[in-house]
Amino acid sequence: MTKQINLGGSFTLPGTSMSVNRMGYGAMQLAGPQVYGPPRDMDAAIAVLREAVAAGVDHIDTSDFYGPHVTNQIIKQALHPYPDGLVIVTKVGARRPKDKSWVHALSRQELIDAVHDNLRNLGLDTLDVVNLRVGGVMGPSEGSIEEPLTVLAELKRQGLVRHLGLSNVNADQLAEAQAITELVCVQNFYNVAHRDDDAFIDDLARRGIAYVPFFPLGGFSPLQSSALDAAAAALHATPMQVALAWLLQRSRNILLIPGTSSAEHLRENLRAATLQLPAEMIAGLDAIGGDRKAELRVND
Ligand SMILES: NC(=O)c1ccc[n+]([C@@H]2O[C@H](COP(=O)([O-])OP(=O)(O)OC[C@H]3O[C@@H](n4cnc5c(N)ncnc54)[C@H](OP(=O)(O)O)[C@@H]3O)[C@@H](O)[C@H]2O)c1
Repeated sequence: MTKQINLGGSFTLPGTSMSVNRMGYGAMQLAGPQVYGPPRDMDAAIAVLREAVAAGVDHIDTSDFYGPHVTNQIIKQALHPYPDGLVIVTKVGARRPKDKSWVHALSRQELIDAVHDNLRNLGLDTLDVVNLRVGGVMGPSEGSIEEPLTVLAELKRQGLVRHLGLSNVNADQLAEAQAITELVCVQNFYNVAHRDDDAFIDDLARRGIAYVPFFPLGGFSPLQSSALDAAAAALHATPMQVALAWLLQRSRNILLIPGTSSAEHLRENLRAATLQLPAEMIAGLDAIGGDRKAELRVND
């Protein structure tokens, strides 16, 4: 695949010289079924990663608890030594027992071990960005995150981590976190149909902090909506491309990490970076996830 010109424009993480294209790639789908064990087709997984980077993707989201270990090992096999400018964002705070469940792993030792697991399996001396994942996947839970974040801030001071972010958090937790360390990104559940974070995104945009929605396409059950279908038909695009373009146009601090194990879906998703949605179409799409005032939109 030839290099694309503009993968949604670029965004510089606050207080850093780290710039990434707004269209990135989420690596979670590369592990086996239920994000556990090796993929059914290792060569295909490697090919998807290489094609993404060859097309200009310079932001890959991962975790050592995907697989566990497997996804990071595939990234290393496919891309190491990493090209200059590639930003690998990982996350810590969970583990995967043999029953394939997702369990919090937020003790001091678990966090230290997780950072070292990421370093080893990615083949790095320093991790670009580490997100502290707390809360539940469907939404944040209340409560202090001071203890685990303090551990990661310490690892940052030791030089094992360059920058920190948060995942599955609310605005109060971000405020608490900012008193402890600088944060460059927040990664929460958000897409055209799931809009709990609308106000949070606007607040983060004002502060220049990246908002990286996970499940941008709906996650394990991809989005289905007649409004997406109609918009896609009108633009000669696909519903998934419209869902991604809607996010890119929603706010300039949104960075995308759609996940796929398929080269065909990867190409389709990357093409969404250049898809322009007219204002009246955006208004119609807004209705999927609740009302949204047009004036809050940045690209209209
Ligand atoms: N912080 C957290 O707690 C958290 C939680 C979940 C995910 N994440 C991160 O967010 C990233 C994105 O989330 P995600 O991968 O779970 O969900 P997603 O990007 O919303 O959707 C992935 C699903 O959509 C399918 N898909 C992708 N492109 C498609 C297309 N063009 N047409 C039709 N189907 C398509 C994929 O299947 P195929 O493989 O068949 O394409 C997969 O089933 C993950 O990779 C991970 O890095 C973070």
